[in-house]
Amino acid sequence: MNGIKIAKLLSNKNLNKSHFINGWVKTFRGNRFISINDGSTSQNLQCVIEYDKIDESLLKKINTGASLNIYGDLIESQGRGQKFELRVKELKVIGESNPDEYPIQPKKHSLEFLREKAHLRIRTSTFSSVMRIRSALSFAIHEFFQKKNFYYINTPIITGSDAEGAGEMFRVSTLDPNSLKLNNKNQIDFSEDFFGKETNLTVSGQLEAEAYALGLGEVYTFGPTFRAENSNTSRHLAEFWMIEPEMAFYDLNKNMDLAEEFIISILNKILKTCSDDLFYLNERQINEDKNKPLQERNSMNLIEKLNFVVKNKFKRVSYTEAFNILKRSSKNKKKKFKYLIENWGIDFQSEHERFLVEKHFKCPVIVFDYPAKIKAFYMRLNDDKKTVGAMDILFPGIGEIVGGSQREERLDVLQKRMKELEIEEKELWWYIELRKFGSVPHSGFGLGFERLVQFVTGMNNIRDVIPFPRTPQNANF
Ligand code: 4AD
Ligand code: MG
Repeated sequence: MNGIKIAKLLSNKNLNKSHFINGWVKTFRGNRFISINDGSTSQNLQCVIEYDKIDESLLKKINTGASLNIYGDLIESQGRGQKFELRVKELKVIGESNPDEYPIQPKKHSLEFLREKAHLRIRTSTFSSVMRIRSALSFAIHEFFQKKNFYYINTPIITGSDAEGAGEMFRVSTLDPNSLKLNNKNQIDFSEDFFGKETNLTVSGQLEAEAYALGLGEVYTFGPTFRAENSNTSRHLAEFWMIEPEMAFYDLNKNMDLAEEFIISILNKILKTCSDDLFYLNERQINEDKNKPLQERNSMNLIEKLNFVVKNKFKRVSYTEAFNILKRSSKNKKKKFKYLIENWGIDFQSEHERFLVEKHFKCPVIVFDYPAKIKAFYMRLNDDKKTVGAMDILFPGIGEIVGGSQREERLDVLQKRMKELEIEEKELWWYIELRKFGSVPHSGFGLGFERLVQFVTGMNNIRDVIPFPRTPQNANF
């Protein structure tokens, strides 16, 4: 169907010319003013009907939610609130909408309510802004790596190794749950299953990406990952997207340098290309803040916060330094943490991460060299034999946004670590072989895409930055 996008119509000099537009009605006032949106911009276009131009029966069909095709002249607006408006010459109702049943009414809806209507929430200004930014972020991510000559690879979604250790997994099976056969050890006999063995949805593409980095040099994945953790928080999804670069001949420092350059570069890109949507979400956050108690308000608005992050270097501290800062903090001494910091070796909770970022350093923080005991088997053991070359990037409001490490490239050290953690070598025979044939120091990291979208859009709940969220007890749509 013929038509110019509203974003283009408003950005070009299209004044005093006739145009077709297509979109959905947001409001219809006084049998005259249609506010219409087509998904191309957070701005609605006001279309004005001349009294005698459109017949009565058609006017009745212009309801909130209906889709229209309009032909008219773009003129400077006579009214307040918008610069331009479209004077309607012809109008077609493409799809009607029953205003009594259409859930997205022209009033403020709660985000919780809109989650129940995830198939229609994209018609709201907030969700369309978030999703346009999400799309632009994907593109910026590919562009960053492609410019650096990294190869984009697709690692398997169904995995045959259950030793990745990044979280609980979802089983993939075609066995009939009502008639499961047991083997002689009284366990389910997966030899009869589709793949002849137990398989799961992947929690990360890292191990396979390592194999490809040790041949292509520098690679990245950008795909869906699945975790069956029962974490009902504002930062966890059961299905989320992860970007995982993996680089041969990179040590931990080079890995941290790349991660920081990567994040700053894509944020800069979004500041440049998504200014309208950022402006809309910035205003939204300022308005939300007005209803919150003073101490819960954001100290910087969204755009200030993004600019702050791109203009300042991330602070790098070892786990041990971070541990000491937390232990000596007055918050810990006054027993104000839920989990008190006492003994070296504990894993930081999100309250500790947020203290470091929001209260102590007041900027993004990279914590590196974590205790080996709390990190995965593949992370490279440091000379102190107590810590591994791991790094987590912590962000204000979000906590951990990136997790990565230098990988253990020494065959004997890897085998020893696997033994300690009771990971069977036969599960990962191919991963071990990578250390037998031309092993090299290599590193990589994983960026949680939805956490990044949360940070950029200022949305508090991760369920509001992915089209159809999957969380415990919730797989509607
Ligand atoms: O720290 P994680 O578990 O690291 C890995 O999976 C490594 N294999 C990555 C690598 O080195 N290639 O996860 C990486 C990131 C986290 O920092 C977080 O941003 C995000 O993935 N993440 C989640 N995002 C949404 N929902 C969840 N349940 C998430 N779990 C992790
Ligand atoms: Mg992690």
